Amino acid sequence: MCGIVGYIGDRPAYPILIQGLKQLEYRGYDSAGVSLLGEGMSVFKKKGKVSELENHIGNKKLLATAGMGHTRWATHGEPNDINAHPHVSNNGHLVLIHNGIIENYAVLREALTREGYTFTSETDTEVFLNLIEAYQNKEKLSLADALSMALSQVVGAYAIVVADDRNPDVIVAARKQSPLVVGMGNDEYFIGSDATPIVRHTNKVIYLKDNEIAILDRNEGVTIKDSKNVVQKPHIEEISLRIEELEKGGYEHFMLKEIHQQPQTVSDCMRGRLNNQEGWVKLGGMEEYGGLFENAERIILAGCGTSWHAGLIGEYLFEDLARIPVEVEYASELRYRNPVIREGDIVMAISQSGETADTLAALEHVKGKGAMIYGVVNAVGSSIARLTDAGSYIHSGPEIGVASTKAFTGQVTLLSMAALWLGKRRGTISSSRYRTLISALARIPEQIAETLKVEDQIKYIASEMTAYNNSLYLGRGYNFPVALEGALKLKEISYIHAEGYPAAEMKHGPIALIDENMPVVVVATNQSAYDKILNNIQEVKARKGTVIAIVSNGAKEISKFADHVIEIPETAEPFSPLLSVIPTQLLSYHIASLRGCNVDQPRNLAKSVTVE
Ligand code: F6R
Repeated sequence: MCGIVGYIGDRPAYPILIQGLKQLEYRGYDSAGVSLLGEGMSVFKKKGKVSELENHIGNKKLLATAGMGHTRWATHGEPNDINAHPHVSNNGHLVLIHNGIIENYAVLREALTREGYTFTSETDTEVFLNLIEAYQNKEKLSLADALSMALSQVVGAYAIVVADDRNPDVIVAARKQSPLVVGMGNDEYFIGSDATPIVRHTNKVIYLKDNEIAILDRNEGVTIKDSKNVVQKPHIEEISLRIEELEKGGYEHFMLKEIHQQPQTVSDCMRGRLNNQEGWVKLGGMEEYGGLFENAERIILAGCGTSWHAGLIGEYLFEDLARIPVEVEYASELRYRNPVIREGDIVMAISQSGETADTLAALEHVKGKGAMIYGVVNAVGSSIARLTDAGSYIHSGPEIGVASTKAFTGQVTLLSMAALWLGKRRGTISSSRYRTLISALARIPEQIAETLKVEDQIKYIASEMTAYNNSLYLGRGYNFPVALEGALKLKEISYIHAEGYPAAEMKHGPIALIDENMPVVVVATNQSAYDKILNNIQEVKARKGTVIAIVSNGAKEISKFADHVIEIPETAEPFSPLLSVIPTQLLSYHIASLRGCNVDQPRNLAKSVTVE
């Protein structure tokens, strides 16, 4: 949520900031703004996308060599020019951008109002900024010290960049529960809410830790301090992100690119971890805690949205292959419950971004209760990856489209390998089944490539589905979570109401909705419940619903009843979601695109949800 970029060096800052904002736009696109510091300070901000900010600025000559930029996902105050960041303090000298929420801002606002401060926006950000100014005024503190004092007064999560136009050689940044990365160039320094705006300038970065403050000084370089003002030794890391990974590569949208990348990303996830010829699967992070996994009493899988759906598939996998009881938790619920967590439990956090506030908070909540915490994360070096005891990256590469696609298949691939590894280690899976499943999993990348060939057929089906306002997704067993995921994907990018259900539950309520205006997507690739799904399809047809069935090659019976049959390659049932989800991704994409929706940046959404 909200993108942050900052620069200080000897080059004009504006092109660096605007380019960085474009790169960060997937994090929020309600408004955008920049501030430049040189001789004085200038601020430009505009409701809407970065391109609107660019048009607003036009051809102005902006040569200042320090500044900050922000792209907003609104929390406090509607998206408009006034609420857009950066904000300027009452005395006109301090400028600040912020990602996160200051929870006690109302109390602080009241106190500052009593002191004579006035506010032009409805944001918590402006309140916090004036608190810094108040400390500077009262106690004659440096910007960093005033920021530190102000931070000690706030409750909430934040990533903040602040500067003072009376000292344009310094930019100060701080974080708590919201990521910030400092880029280390040659006599120039960058700041970003992730590495994407930095990577084209330097691959040397420092991931700020919670409660740390970074002082970027044009002359003295970067100093990191903790909350007690003690200087920390910075840990400079080299990142391997490439610029091509952040571009569309000829596709119309990032989402389409990411759907098509899946043969490669799933294969990357397996690289070095699965060997079909030798017949083994292993995950370094799990082996390190082999005894704990082997003797685990329970696995709790926690995540949000699409990652939660991957967790549901994990439940089927671990119970089926490793015979360990599993619970799947919405992280947002887990964090506020009083869950029974014991030694012997393993909590696995699933997250693409590694920054989702609810997932992070759930982990904080269970940490210290005796369970081992394991991360299944895409973003390398992210907060969740750091908080966990151990983990495995899914190696899907940057996912820019707001709707998650390749990260989902990466997560499911990782959980498939984890369940296989654990099943073998616990002796709950026969050698022959283990061997067969390894071969099946090894073939998935090429089978995803094969599955992607249904795209033309899906475009045609999509053209029929654009007219409907509702749809139902049904699936059973391993494919029930795919029905949930298919429905989520459709509603989030096309704004068509969609619901996912276990197919057999249809009779307990949703069947009342079915008529000729209700398309029903049935994920019917299961071998085990094939006949039962066939019955469900007939029940829909009897009520004039339109059936779009996703089946394994050669499922002749279903084609007699369904209106559209999408045939995909057959695989072992535990891995069928890795194939059956692909047509649902393509369907949502093409429906949304035909409806003229902004596929990569659906309304009201942002890529990483770093607020509650
Ligand atoms: C849906 C989607 C979201 C995310 C959710 C969790 O397409 O992308 O539902 O899955 O916000 O995000 P991560 O995985 O980053 O924790």
